[in-house]
Amino acid sequence: MKLQISKTSQTRISEFDFDNLEFGRIFSDHMLEMVYNNGAWQSAEIKPYGPITFEPSMMALHYGQAVFEGMKAYYANDDTINLFRPHDHHQRLNNSARRLCMPEIEESLFIEALEELMRLDHTWVPKKHGQALYIRPVMFATEEYLAAKVSEEYKFLIITSPVGAYYSEGFNPVKLTTSENYVRAVKGGTGEAKAAGNYGGSFLPARNAQKKGYTQVLWLDANEHKYVEEVGTMNIFFLIGDKLITPKLSGTVLPGITRRSVIALAKEWSVDVEERKISIDEVFEADSNGTLKEVFGAGTAAVISPVGLIHHQGQTLTLDQEKVGPFAKKMFDTITGIQYGKLKDTHGWVHPVNVRSSVLQ
Ligand code: COI
Repeated sequence: MKLQISKTSQTRISEFDFDNLEFGRIFSDHMLEMVYNNGAWQSAEIKPYGPITFEPSMMALHYGQAVFEGMKAYYANDDTINLFRPHDHHQRLNNSARRLCMPEIEESLFIEALEELMRLDHTWVPKKHGQALYIRPVMFATEEYLAAKVSEEYKFLIITSPVGAYYSEGFNPVKLTTSENYVRAVKGGTGEAKAAGNYGGSFLPARNAQKKGYTQVLWLDANEHKYVEEVGTMNIFFLIGDKLITPKLSGTVLPGITRRSVIALAKEWSVDVEERKISIDEVFEADSNGTLKEVFGAGTAAVISPVGLIHHQGQTLTLDQEKVGPFAKKMFDTITGIQYGKLKDTHGWVHPVNVRSSVLQ
């Protein structure tokens, strides 16, 4: 299928203050729109960002058949924008789509559309360290029908948004609490897919946590309410003694791309990495016996986010709240160094896009 391109006649970029970027509030000039019906993707068009129309009977609204991705592009220099691990994001998008009975996207088209969006909107990629262009691919059911069944029609969009830090804390430690009454995912459910409904279902417990002064919920497993799973917007890591421990991917945890990068780098630094079940009691015990050195989250939006406090059933453990731990700092510096093209990418994670051609247009 040929990618069609219709450029905007007027950029909106001067309307925005790039020194004060809130996460996900403003959107760049162009977006991708693909339409699926009659058993195939019919069209792929990059066009000016703007409203889309749909009928009230659109199935995604009723039955939540919707999946998305979160990825980022980084300013390397005036000629080059670095996409981070786009092939891995593509693979995860298709895994999520399969789980929700949705059509897959062809890899070459996904990459071509991203490269073209970068060429058209490269001036929207913010230049400061800590900032990036957040990329949000999203697919949803568009058939107009109220029967509870798999939709025959879909839209796939890619929109992009210049962003700063995800949490208002920036790179300062966040505060987490477990939830007594709610769970994020159950075995056999959609927890490992990036399904829109996973997020909607987490908002009530997240709001309850925020009312009590916590940043996010630290999710525990649904069966025993004992084992740590993830934070919902990021995966979680514990540095206990000299081991780096993270919950293993057992079907209820999102397989984070940043998680995978953290594990690869830690192993390269000869750190003993354990992907296994870790109970919240083990975390509190490690804190009591002085072996819990650091806790941090890892995700595309959050990058590396140090954790300063964990609350669980009336008990609170605090790490050094003023400081980012040296391991999390080294991880942040290394990952962002690779993403911005300042450190050598020995893993093939960075996909550089030469945007010079459109600068000269
Ligand atoms: C991401 O890290 O990209 C996410 O999808 C988390 C979130 C903003 C929903």
